[in-house]
Amino acid sequence: MSQLLITGGAGFIGSHTCLVLLEAGHRLVVLDDFSNSSPEALRRVQELAGPLAGPRLQLIEGDLRSPADLAQAFAAAPIEAVVHFAGLKAVGESVADPLRYWDVNLSGSRALLAAMVQVGCRTIVFSSSATLYGSPESVPIAETARVAPVNPYGYSKAAVEQMLADVCASEPGWRVARLRYFNPVGAHPSGRIGEDPGGIPNNLFPFLSQVAVGRRPSLQVFGSDWPTADGTGVRDYIHVMDLADGHRAALEVLMAEPPQLLTLNLGSGRGQSVLEVVAAFERACGSPVPYDLVPRRPGDVAATVADPSLAERRLAWRTQRDLEAICRDGWAWQSANPQGYGPRGD
Ligand code: WQD
Repeated sequence: MSQLLITGGAGFIGSHTCLVLLEAGHRLVVLDDFSNSSPEALRRVQELAGPLAGPRLQLIEGDLRSPADLAQAFAAAPIEAVVHFAGLKAVGESVADPLRYWDVNLSGSRALLAAMVQVGCRTIVFSSSATLYGSPESVPIAETARVAPVNPYGYSKAAVEQMLADVCASEPGWRVARLRYFNPVGAHPSGRIGEDPGGIPNNLFPFLSQVAVGRRPSLQVFGSDWPTADGTGVRDYIHVMDLADGHRAALEVLMAEPPQLLTLNLGSGRGQSVLEVVAAFERACGSPVPYDLVPRRPGDVAATVADPSLAERRLAWRTQRDLEAICRDGWAWQSANPQGYGPRGD
């Protein structure tokens, strides 16, 4: 198995992917600054991985933008490949504070790639996002769809994707996978790790689960006049464990095949509305979730759904878990951890 560097490995998707990679036999160095995550997540990942696999995770607290921190991460072990999660990902926040998003997401990724070149590591799986499609011309969305971001977060993801394409074209030997996530949700079925956003959640699923556990009075449903079956927004929700496994599969394909630039949508291919998600969550938590129908949120679109057929073909991977499993596992996490991992290090 391989020695990997996982940037942002303490985050929601990063922690779940670290667990899957440990269970697949890999050795991990995790670089995380805990600006939007908790070291407790990694402690629990090691607990879940067990006494044989847990010690194969080394943690370095640091920032991608710090040359010293990056050098420390690459000196910790002979890194054969990188899985790059570290970055900021809140759409609204990116509109309010674009320079921070360009610094962390773009400058951080540039520094990482420069450090990889220095040590001769040319294999990377990048955490990209379906946000870079903007308002889709049609659904389901294939990788050939127009890239047309509509917010600084989406633009920063598209820019890092372009930087990766430029690096691949500049010299032979690069193995790159750009994974475009749709809506990652849910949690590991143990209830020990899950999504723990700081502050007021921007996204539907964590907000909904915080209402269900009593942390918030009610959910605002943004728009009930969309051109959809029940008038509420439709999205492609992908269980975080399916997403984690997609990263494992992408890494294994990159390591096994000749150098290439792979761009893949990771989604279920199923669209579900806000009210369908609320109903499924109520079945999972066993009680009604109060909500109000309010006007649309600026920047939202009616529907985004993946065409996941290329990932299914190239990775022999597809989602295995449905909305019921997403809500069951998400509730297991939230009900066992009403305050998430507890107070942040900051
Ligand atoms: C989903 C649906 C909302 C909150 C964003 C990013 C994307 C990815 C996932 C990082 C929409 C509705 C939401 C609420 C609601 N993140 N909603 N009440 O906007 O599809 O995607 O997060 O990569 O890049 O763009 O996700 O969960 O915010 O919204 O009614 O309190 O839920 O209108 O229809 P979104 P979301």
